[in-house]
Amino acid sequence: STGPALGEALVDWYAGAARDLPWRRPDTDPWAVLVSEVMLQQTPVVRVEPVWREWLARWATPAALAAASPAEVIRAWGKLGYPRRALRLRETAVALVERHGGRVPDEVPALEALPGVGTYTARAVACFGHGQVQPVVDTNVRRVVARLVHGRAEALPARAADLTDVAALTPADPDRAVRFSVAVMELGALVCVARTPRCGACPVRLSCAWRLAGSPASDGPPKRV
Ligand code: ADE
Repeated sequence: STGPALGEALVDWYAGAARDLPWRRPDTDPWAVLVSEVMLQQTPVVRVEPVWREWLARWATPAALAAASPAEVIRAWGKLGYPRRALRLRETAVALVERHGGRVPDEVPALEALPGVGTYTARAVACFGHGQVQPVVDTNVRRVVARLVHGRAEALPARAADLTDVAALTPADPDRAVRFSVAVMELGALVCVARTPRCGACPVRLSCAWRLAGSPASDGPPKRV
């Protein structure tokens, strides 16, 4: 199949297989999406869920968080780990108030210019928070692309071409393109996992370059490109 046909298949699969996570509901605002993405960077979904709910109940807007004390935010971060993320998120909120009138911008460059927001988080917020068509590339997505498109067991180190590879799989319809971005992440989280991929459950297994090549093992530590 062609790239976009594979993306379409992933969107269809997502409709039936995805986890129902609160930050993925259509009414989730961009600030709530940003908070979820920062929490999910180093903490599993099950631990994030309750803290995310409490956090947003307490600080529903960037202005609310910007007015909190660092000690309060550290305490509310609880056991999510890497508590510096809590302080950085508060600094992000301060910058949103100072530069953007307390709103979360929808332009990737403006998002990337915020303290503590990298290219992944910027695109995730533009896409999942603002409904913008954007390639959203995390570790899971890079592994899916390495296998499906390049026939490799593991991803190479992050590179600019990852965005192009993902864009080539993206459906043309904007609503489906947005769902594709979360669908490919979900495939990497649930099916195309690092150690023992569940290829029998994969909607694109018949087109997967890695499977077609006989699922070769990784050829050792990935080389720099
Ligand atoms: N949905 C959107 N971003 C996500 C993430 N980082 N982890 C799990 N689900 C997500």
